[in-house]
Amino acid sequence: MPTKSDSTVIAANWKMYKTLPEALEFIDKLESYADKSSSKIMLAVPFTLIRDVSEKAKETKFIIGAQNMNDSFEGAFTGEISARMLLDAGAKFVVLGHSERRQYYKESNEFINKKVKRALSENLSVILCIGETFDEHEEGRINDVLKEQISGSLKDLAVSDFKNLMIAYEPVWAIGSGKPASVEEVARQCEEIREIVTSLWGKKVSDNLKILYGGSVNPSNAKEFLEEKNINGLFVGTASLNVDSFGKIISQT
Ligand code: PGA
Repeated sequence: MPTKSDSTVIAANWKMYKTLPEALEFIDKLESYADKSSSKIMLAVPFTLIRDVSEKAKETKFIIGAQNMNDSFEGAFTGEISARMLLDAGAKFVVLGHSERRQYYKESNEFINKKVKRALSENLSVILCIGETFDEHEEGRINDVLKEQISGSLKDLAVSDFKNLMIAYEPVWAIGSGKPASVEEVARQCEEIREIVTSLWGKKVSDNLKILYGGSVNPSNAKEFLEEKNINGLFVGTASLNVDSFGKIISQT
């Protein structure tokens, strides 16, 4: 397991929010909170902001990334963005498999797997999101779903690929609901995720894998998740849009 001396990861997911002036003002203000933080701070921003925000973040400790990409190298795919374009704009990582993409754009594990492999082959780091829906949770199918998502989305990955990959466990029912999963439940699922990874790629990979929790994280509950040894960071949506609430989260960690 990543040791406590490894830095905690706090990732923001801005989804389809913020214009450039709003983003630049946010970065300015966030810097005052970042001084108090020993965490690795990652911001997944809309495509249109990547270049300017990366430029502005050069002097800071913030790492800028994207929220999606196409699985092909390049081609006639109107409206799509490639891994190489993201890197060229300054992105260092990409979020793949977010539940909103699985749900609204019908992204399958097989398709996500193609994107993961493309991103890693281009040297773009990946945060892979996984997590069960409310029905799957109620039916007691959590572990099966996590197994399917991990083995499907990460199919054929080599041990060395995991250097550039983290997993965010996000129970779909906890996202944007204001009702996070309990710390005990998240700790248990993160341990299960580690066991699944161990069974597929070995203990060394799972020991070094960072697993983040996402789903209604806010300044009042952030700290308690991070006290668990299996939870190595947080993936924050709503509370990452307001600089003071995100600032309070990073300054506690
Ligand atoms: P939330 O979103 O923090 O608003 O629950 C998390 C996410 O969608 O990644």
